[in-house]
Amino acid sequence: MSELSKPVLEGEGGSDYERYLRTDALLRLQKNADEWVHRDELLFQTVHQSSELWLKLAWNEVEEAGRLVVADDIPAALRLIRRASDCLKLVTSALDMLEHMSPWEYTEVRKVLGHGSGFDSPGFREIRRVAKPLGDAFHAAHERAGLSLADVYVRGREFEDLYQLAEQLIEFDERVIVWRVRHFKVVQRVIGADVIGTQGTPVEVMGRLIHHSFYPELWDVRNDLTRMNLPE
Ligand code: HEM
Repeated sequence: MSELSKPVLEGEGGSDYERYLRTDALLRLQKNADEWVHRDELLFQTVHQSSELWLKLAWNEVEEAGRLVVADDIPAALRLIRRASDCLKLVTSALDMLEHMSPWEYTEVRKVLGHGSGFDSPGFREIRRVAKPLGDAFHAAHERAGLSLADVYVRGREFEDLYQLAEQLIEFDERVIVWRVRHFKVVQRVIGADVIGTQGTPVEVMGRLIHHSFYPELWDVRNDLTRMNLPE
């Protein structure tokens, strides 16, 4: 064994790769084959657990972006919001994997979920928590510059940072909405749209959340901009 392949870090595992990434603990987080009621539990747990990790990264970046906007460092905030939006893209594309499950066989998996429901997803709970302070920081920033929300767009070339920030906020909002739309279709495909979820919510009621957005004013201002410049 060469000197370089010997581990130097503390922790569990035979190599620094395993020790740094804590792969032993990570790979213990899924049920073993002898605990499965159906082998698709591994697929189901992998999609949910990896989604929670990406959501954790996303909300941490959004929270920090909010602090940076308060400190007037918009370019640094933009980097982080872009990253958070890409996390949402990954979480959305991970949903494709769940459509590999047979709806009939999923009824077996569902029996071992108890009252487990996505409403209790820590990742989404935190996303909901950090989205508003970021929006508030953006509005305070354009008000400090003496601009209304519409001005951020009308004078977007003069106030490039504020314009970019507005666009990254709506991008993030859209990525969450697109996740919801996609999730709704996956749910409809796997369990149907006329049933109730594991916490008793009718799927159809959850479907209405598609119309929710963190920054409705950013969607509404488009109407104002279009109306402001309609041909005579
Ligand atoms: C077979 C796959 C899935 C099914 C059948 C499913 C089903 C459901 C149902 C029925 C609800 C309504 C609440 C209730 O449980 O009563 C719900 C909500 C939710 N689920 Fe899923 N889900 C699936 C995958 C996922 C994945 C991979 C995530 C990612 C973390 C997720 C996150 C959520 C969230 C955040 C909600 C709250 C509603 C919202 O904010 O739009 N779900 N899900």
